[in-house]
Parts: sequence; structure tokens; C-alpha cells
Amino acid sequence: MSKATKFQVPRSARFGLVVSFLAAVGSGAVVWHQVQEEYRTSVEDLDRRAGMLVHRNASAARNALELAPASIADAMGDRLEGHSRLLGLALFGPDGAMVASGPGVSDLEAALHAVAARTTPAEPQFAEVVRGSFGTMHIMALELVGPKDEKLGSIVAVHDALYLENRLTRGMVRGFALALLIAGGLFLVTTGMAWAAFERPLHALADWMRRLRFGVPADAPPRGLPIRKLEDESAHLAASFRAARTKERESAETLARSDKAWTRDRLRAHAMSALGSDTLVVVSNREPYMHQLLDGRPHLVRPASGLVTGLDPVLQACGGLWVAHGAGDADRETVDANDCVAVPPEDPRYTLRRVWITKEEEQGYYYGFSNEGLWPLCHLTHERPTFRADDWEQYVRANRRFADAVLEEIGTQSAVVLVQDYQMALVPGMLRRKRPDLKIGLFWHIPWPNPEAFRICPFRAELLEGMLGADLIGFHLQQHCNNFLDSVDRMVEARLDWDRFAADFRGHSALVRPFPISVQPWSERHTVSDAALAEQTEALRQKYGIGEVAIGVGVDRIDYTKGLAERFRAIERFFERNPRYRGKFSFVQLGAPSRTHIPRYRDLISELESAADAINWKFKIDGSSWKPIHFAVDHHDGPTVHAFMRIASVCVVSSLHDGMNLVAKEFVAAQGEAMAQGGSDVGALVLSEFAGAARDLPDALIINPYDTDEFADAIRSSLEMPVAERRERMARMHDHLTEHNIYRWAAEFLKTLSQSRRSVAGQPRDVDIGS
Ligand code: F6P
Repeated sequence: MSKATKFQVPRSARFGLVVSFLAAVGSGAVVWHQVQEEYRTSVEDLDRRAGMLVHRNASAARNALELAPASIADAMGDRLEGHSRLLGLALFGPDGAMVASGPGVSDLEAALHAVAARTTPAEPQFAEVVRGSFGTMHIMALELVGPKDEKLGSIVAVHDALYLENRLTRGMVRGFALALLIAGGLFLVTTGMAWAAFERPLHALADWMRRLRFGVPADAPPRGLPIRKLEDESAHLAASFRAARTKERESAETLARSDKAWTRDRLRAHAMSALGSDTLVVVSNREPYMHQLLDGRPHLVRPASGLVTGLDPVLQACGGLWVAHGAGDADRETVDANDCVAVPPEDPRYTLRRVWITKEEEQGYYYGFSNEGLWPLCHLTHERPTFRADDWEQYVRANRRFADAVLEEIGTQSAVVLVQDYQMALVPGMLRRKRPDLKIGLFWHIPWPNPEAFRICPFRAELLEGMLGADLIGFHLQQHCNNFLDSVDRMVEARLDWDRFAADFRGHSALVRPFPISVQPWSERHTVSDAALAEQTEALRQKYGIGEVAIGVGVDRIDYTKGLAERFRAIERFFERNPRYRGKFSFVQLGAPSRTHIPRYRDLISELESAADAINWKFKIDGSSWKPIHFAVDHHDGPTVHAFMRIASVCVVSSLHDGMNLVAKEFVAAQGEAMAQGGSDVGALVLSEFAGAARDLPDALIINPYDTDEFADAIRSSLEMPVAERRERMARMHDHLTEHNIYRWAAEFLKTLSQSRRSVAGQPRDVDIGS
């Protein structure tokens, strides 16, 4: 469900509802009481009138009752008949039998008798309103006694009392209509007053604080706040915020000009001058912090994702907003009313806005088009891509949701939007159409194939056109940039500017550049002393049943592109060729289950488990718990990954095709940390030539993962390499990473984006895709 469809009753309306409800109940109770009181008074009035009537006729009745029954009616004459609301009189003899009655009451003997019977010598007069099939009557009886107090009979007067009932009903209806009117009026008045006096100014204050947080400088705090003190305090806040920003900007400019290594602070300084007052927004499918239910409570998970590894430190350094799919089953529980959560939760540095997509959209957009279509299309692993028209529709719809969320969040502010990866190819075009002023960067984290491979995609032109809405399109490698521009050249009516390495399309120019992504130093996120590391390692060895043997490690999402089957085959060949390592070396594969709704991914887990079992069985040593492969399928946390990287003698990255692969760089960073702490030995890296990281880390043992013998030999070499050589290779790779870390990557991307040319000569035209 999108944010736009989530309706919340404003607080002022809730307040108005409570007030009007109480007013309605109160005035309803008053009306009820008044109408009942009026009814009672009317009945008393009728009692009085009927009483007078029977008393006035009592002596005539007494005389008449002394006559023979047949003459009684004649003696009473027209006294017995009714007029106005009086229906008539009736006389009862001492035995209780009706002896005379007016024509209007002659049929009511039983009802009249029942009332007459209630009179007693002590209370000779009795009246009652009686309801029955005959209607509603007021019946008044008076017992008649002779000179010696002997009972002569009773005289009964009957009035039509229906008008009393009608008056009661009318009174009720009018009264309740009035109560409703009062409640409605009160609702409007109190809601309006609460909105004008509190909610509107507080909303304005919240918006202002938000703009202040994003650094919009010239904005004064709103006036007319409900409390004077709030106005004064916000004015002070604005003043000190501006002063702090000015100071920060000055030192930022100084720092940005310095030639020190790229650090979190230097990137922050650089971003401040590159962004100016623009808000920094990242948009991706994968969120950096996910909440999953564990034992019924939300539990924080860091998804296994190269994109998250790369971008989270950037936003932690620069602040801003990250818009991503809220995929965790406890994500909705942990956001505020605007679907936002401050992250990292333990030390918030930026805002994560979660976007909700439906199951159908997730199926078509994420599992279908992104991961059964684009993923195998861009990774050359001989996995056939599947393109379905329905999946494409969902991909367009979901991209629009993400673009709308970005637009909603930035409002009218100017912003720099960094769109991430193949799940979001249409977002740049969608943003460009609505907000041509935005600076939009797109970074593609996976490879871009050559045009022959790419052209099989039925939606190739739409994808390329959507991407060309960006000002800057980044890939990890120059080769991916070349492939991309070749694809644009053949499939879109764009003008290529090979000098600038740009594509001019519909009045807009998109630069295409390589930016090999990198990692942040481990020390910034996870520092452990040697003693703590030894303790942690011991605990992990116990947990996984790994004895005191040398360890090799692999850390991957379980994905066919990662070459895990090839890795297990190479380990098998390693033990075949080097049986002396049985009982002395174990390989720990930390595998995070991924995209498991796709059969190919689900099946891969069981295929790998069977392969590991078969290898473990093949090299089993009787009487020993040693295993060649520990395949740990789970979402492993940062400290576990770090500990294995620190204790491993070798790390293996055997991707069949990979944009960059940050595991390789994370391993080098962990070894650099060990060397900096005075560690005498370091591990070695075995790295696939088909991972982008191989270009940046040539001192790794580079392998072709399809060549099992070469791969197995590289594992042996890594274990047998002289310590000095291992240290030298690792030091060179670590130096490269220190210089080319994630902060430099982000700084270069932002710098190029801020300098990118915005439009080309000629009439600008709309970008059609996904508008
Ligand atoms: O780096 C490539 C990538 O697909 C990212 O886009 C993604 O976050 C990561 O791998 C993990 O994949 P997923 O998000 O599908 O779990």
C-alpha cells in the first residue's frame, strides 16, 4: 500500500469528534429528561381535569345509581357522552358491573373495570394511562359512597390520551435533531479551532524543522505557534543551526581542499560543498536496515547486499534520506506515521523511508523482471533470462511507486537523487519528467553485457530511455560503460558524444563513467581487541564444530552467479590432489539465502548442501569430526563475518560474473586491520577474474572458476605462500583500498554529478518512459 492511500484522521478532527460526542450525549440526556417531564406534567394536568369532571358528576351519579339499572342511563342523560378529548363517562354498580356508559366508551368495559377496581375507601380516586388495541386512554375512576359510607358504585371518566403520546414522540425527535445539530456544529467549530490554533502551526513547525534538517538556509521559523515560548525557541534554534552550518561549511571547504586520505569527515565536508542546500536522496530496492519478527518482536537485520555495504557509510557520513522497499515482516511496526525510521537505530544519522509494494508487484517487479529477467541478462553465467509482459507491467508500476515516494519526500526542495541498480532503471526518467531541475545519478551495481546479449530483452529501448533520464550513469568498469553506450547507440535514437562519453537524448545529456565501488574500514564499524577476537573465534569454532585447523572462508548470498558449485568442486579437487590437508584445513562457506521464491535459487541451496555432504563423506576421517566443508546457510551478522575474515588463511571469491564483489574488498580491509594491529601473518585472497574486483586487486590469486585444477592449485598456493609474500601482496592491495575507499567513490560520483551538463542544445522533449 502506498503512503498516498493510507488515510489518517487528523488529530484536530479526533478532538472535535470527542467534544461533539460528549456534547451530543449531554444534550441528548437533557432533551430526554425535559420531554419526560413535559409528559408527566401533561398527564398530571389530565388527572386534574378528569378528577374535576368525576367530582362534578358524582352527586348526579349517586342519585342515578339508586334507580333501577334500566333508568340509570336516562337519568345521567348526555352527561355520559364525551366532548373534545373526553370520550365519555361510565357508571359501575356496587357489584362492579357497568350499569351505564356513554357511546364512546361502551366497548371498554374490561379496561374501565380494571381501573375502577383499583379504588379503595382510603383512596377513592385512581387514574391511569392505559394502552391497548383500542388506543391510548386516560381513565379516571371515583368510588361513590352513600350517607352511611356504603359503596354505591364508581364513576369513570375516559379521555383520549393519544395526543400525549404524539407530543412525547415529537418532542423526542425535535430534541434529538437539535442535539445532533449542536454536536455537528460543535464538531466543525472545535475541529476548525484545534486545526487553526494547534495542528496547522505545528505542521508548519515540523515542515520547517525538516527543511532546517536538510539545510534549507533562508527559511524563517513559522509564526503564530500555539505557545509563545515555542516561537522564541525555534527562532533561537534557526539562528544556532545557521551559525553551525556556516562554520561547518567553512571547515568543510578547507578539509575538502586538503589532500588527506578520504575519511567519513572528508566526504561529509566534500558533500556539503558539492550539494549546497540540496537534499541527498538515495533510492534502491534493498533497504539498509530491515526489521524481522523474531519470537514475536521486531529484530534488526542488516541485509547481505553489496549495495547496502557501499551506500550505508555514505549516507551515515552525509546524512539525508534513503527510500527503499520495506521488505521486513516487522517493518511496518517500526516506522512513524510517514513510513520513516531514523537509522542506524542505535545512532541515527539519516532517515529511511520505507515504500510498501503489493505481493503481486513484488512477484512481478522483484522476483520476475528484476531477478529472472535482468539479473541473468546482465550476468553472463549461461542462465537463460525470462521476460514476461506481466512482470514488466509490475516493474513499471513499482518503479513509479519509488519515484513517487522520492517526489513526495522532497516536496519542492531541490535535491540530488542517487538511484541505485537494475531494479530502478525507469526511476531516473520518471523523476526527470516531473522534476527536470533535479540532479539525478544512477549507479548500476551489476555488469552491463555487450549489445548482442542485451538486445534479447523485449523492453530494451524502454529500459535504456528510462536510464537516460539520469545526468550521470555509473558502472564499476570502463568495459561496462562501453557496452552500455554501444547498446544505446544501437537501440535508442540518441546522439552519442564519444568525446565526453555521454548520450544526448530528448534534450538531455547523460554522462557515462566508471566508478569502482569500495568499502569502509572495518575499524569504523566493528573494533575488537585481540583477546575479544580470540574469544569470539573460539565460540565460533565450537558453534560450527570446527577444530584447530586452518580455515578458508567464503561469504556470499546463495546465488548461481557466485560460483559456489565451482568453488566446492575446486575444494574437492584440492583434497584429491593434496590429501595431506585432510584433517588440517576446513573451508567455511557462510551462505545467506537469497531470492528463495525463485525455484532456481531454492534448488541451488539443496544442490549445494548435497554437494557439500558428498565431499564431506568422500574425505571423512574415521573417528574424527573434521569436515572439509562447513556450509552454514543463514543470515550471518557483521561480527561473525568479521571474525571469520580475521581468522581465515584464505578467502575465496569465485564469481562467474560480478559487477565488483565487495566481499573481496572486505577481506582485504580485514587483513589490513590485522596488519595495523601488528599481526604477524595475514590471509590470502583467491579471486575470480570475472569479478570487477579483480581489476582493483591484481595481487590476489586470480583464477578462472571454471578451471577446477587451476582453482584447486590456487587454494594450495594460498596456504603455502611464504608469509612475506602474503604480507607484501596484502599490503599492496590494502594500500589501494585505503586510497580508493567508499568515501572517495561517493565523493567522485557526487563531484562528477554536480559538474554534469544538464541539457543539450535543441528543443527539450519529454522523457516518455513511465511518466
Ligand atoms: O549488488 C547487486 C545486488 O543485486 C543489489 O542490488 C542487491 O541489494 C544485492 O545484490 C542483493 O540482492 P537482493 O537485494 O536481491 O537480496
